[in-house]
Amino acid sequence: MSSPATLDCNDDTTVFGLDTYLKHYYPDLDKSTSESLVNIFLLDSLHDIFNSVVGVSGNRLIDIGAGPCVYQFISACTKFNEIVATDLSKENQDAIQRWVNENADAFEWSQYVKYVCELEGHQNTVDREKEMRKAIQNVTYCDFSKKYPVGSSDSPLYDCVLTGFCIECIVNSQQQWVQYLNNASNLLKSGGWFVQLCMPADFYMIGDARMSCFKVDEEFVLKALKEAGFVVVKSYLTKHTSTRSYMNYEFTMVVLARKL
Ligand SMILES: C[S@@+](CC[C@H](N)C(=O)[O-])C[C@H]1O[C@@H](n2cnc3c(N)ncnc32)[C@H](O)[C@@H]1O
Repeated sequence: MSSPATLDCNDDTTVFGLDTYLKHYYPDLDKSTSESLVNIFLLDSLHDIFNSVVGVSGNRLIDIGAGPCVYQFISACTKFNEIVATDLSKENQDAIQRWVNENADAFEWSQYVKYVCELEGHQNTVDREKEMRKAIQNVTYCDFSKKYPVGSSDSPLYDCVLTGFCIECIVNSQQQWVQYLNNASNLLKSGGWFVQLCMPADFYMIGDARMSCFKVDEEFVLKALKEAGFVVVKSYLTKHTSTRSYMNYEFTMVVLARKL
């Protein structure tokens, strides 16, 4: 595991407005807010996974619980030909589709794309956005609680399953956490890659709405993956020391694992 970094910001930002989730959790990458530092950590970790770990590539990648986001595909789209973005919520699926369709009211991810292009040592942001839009071939419904979150037992399997900040938002026991990992694993080929982004907390806020969340520690995140039949290949951890009223998280973790 890479050494833990500490985010010292204490910017207990007021949550407000339309598209509250995106605006609050995916602000401009100006390095002065804790959310930006978390997002830089995510982009750095995903860049490392898709560029430095040998063999993380393939034909099809699926994101379970993608929300309204595409930042998680900026590095991945260079290694996978086809990306399927899924979520339980139609509103979130529509937000991704609006970005793919270049609708004027789509969320602006270009700063995130620019940051990753710079990590890669170039500035072809426009080309990368085109590559992402070409790769995201399907935006569809999924339900993580199902044995097969999308499709059925005879659907084609994926080379990579990615999921970010979803399991901790929908389970209420450690046993269920492992069960949902098993559900994700059911979509994966043997030897396929699994990428998990997580930020366990007791709650997080979207505007005035208090969303419940399931808090576990770093050891459990890794243990659960092993219990679900994955081998952990690499993990990235950043610890948070300051308290915030909108989420009582203590760390953010990105884990690359492989299905046995
Ligand atoms: C905290 S958001 C994370 C979104 C995104 N992955 C990100 O990185 O910000 C959790 C997401 O899980 C989705 N979700 C909730 N229950 C789900 C379920 N049973 N199956 C799939 N997605 C679900 C929500 O609609 C929401 O988009």
